[in-house]
Amino acid sequence: MASKIIGLGMYAPPKELTNSDLEKMVDTNDAWITERTGIRTRHIAEPGSPNSDLCVEAARKALDDAGVDPAEIDIVVVGTLTPDMPFPSTACFLQAKIGATRAYGMDLSAACSGFVYSLSVADALIRAGRGKKALVVGSEILSTVVDYTDRSTCILFGDGAGAVVLSECPEGEGVLSCHLHSDGDLWKLIYCPGGGTLHPYSPEMLEQRLGFIRMAGNETFKHAVLRMVEASREALDRNGVTIDDVKLFIPHQANLRIIQVVGKRLGIPDERVFVDLEKYGNTSAASIPIALAEAKAQGRFAAGDLVLVVAFGGGLTWASALMRM
Ligand code: ACO
Repeated sequence: MASKIIGLGMYAPPKELTNSDLEKMVDTNDAWITERTGIRTRHIAEPGSPNSDLCVEAARKALDDAGVDPAEIDIVVVGTLTPDMPFPSTACFLQAKIGATRAYGMDLSAACSGFVYSLSVADALIRAGRGKKALVVGSEILSTVVDYTDRSTCILFGDGAGAVVLSECPEGEGVLSCHLHSDGDLWKLIYCPGGGTLHPYSPEMLEQRLGFIRMAGNETFKHAVLRMVEASREALDRNGVTIDDVKLFIPHQANLRIIQVVGKRLGIPDERVFVDLEKYGNTSAASIPIALAEAKAQGRFAAGDLVLVVAFGGGLTWASALMRM
């Protein structure tokens, strides 16, 4: 057996942080942010709200879309770099909040590739007979790890959640293949140094601002382009199809310029490349499931169409999946 997506949902907190809001916080301007990134606004969770609350909103929509009761779910996987707590997992909080009583749950850490990694794990568990239905969520409250005094990073990130319900299906439908990669030698390109065992919470950690994302933007940009093109081609080659067969290409929503270069190198016309980062910014693990839910709502793919997703993020990690919807 294989697995296929039977329901999709997304959630963005109501509060927005626009480019003009950021102009009042750091030395930046709307023209720079729009030209260099394509981002116009992003959504920000209320301080003190747990990530699992965002997961619940997206998950309920995906379950409704699928017509599946939470009690039917066997597996819950949450891709995130901003969990409610170090433990228990955000997946366990989500399970309890929605009443997915018979499921087992886990979180997965792969930064912006977290959703595609989680999809791959859930798909593999279903193929291995460890469950028939999975809830796979990518959800982040990045505003808790963004340094709003650093103009080079604070303009990029937003909060949100996206969820899919995966269900057992015959081989040849649904998730056709997933391709996961990482290169730990390049960890210093994007990371958050504090809050783990190396720099546990302490007055020094707060003073040195170690609890915030640090990123070498230019270098990250170059790797993002190379790796997303590579992983996309890998998925096409594995399935004996070409980019012309793909109805919709959904790349990680980090920067419009990255998306445009990747699309051009793959030879796919703009109208088949999905972009929503102007509304949400980079929501890390939530970026691809939010885009999938938005694309479905906009009628950008139909049953039977091929959809290619590709992600890239801290680790470095990168991953692709080709799906027949
Ligand atoms: N407003 C105005 N000026 C700025 C801002 C800003 N917000 N930020 C930087 N600048 C300035 C810089 O100081 C620099 O000025 P200088 O030339 O006087 O030194 C100039 O603008 C150019 O800076 P660059 O860093 O070269 O700008 P670039 O065009 O590379 O854009 C960006 C920066 C947007 C960060 C880009 O490099 C990028 O998107 N990188 C990839 C990010 C990514 O893919 N992340 C994915 C993973 S994230 C994860 O895993 C959590």
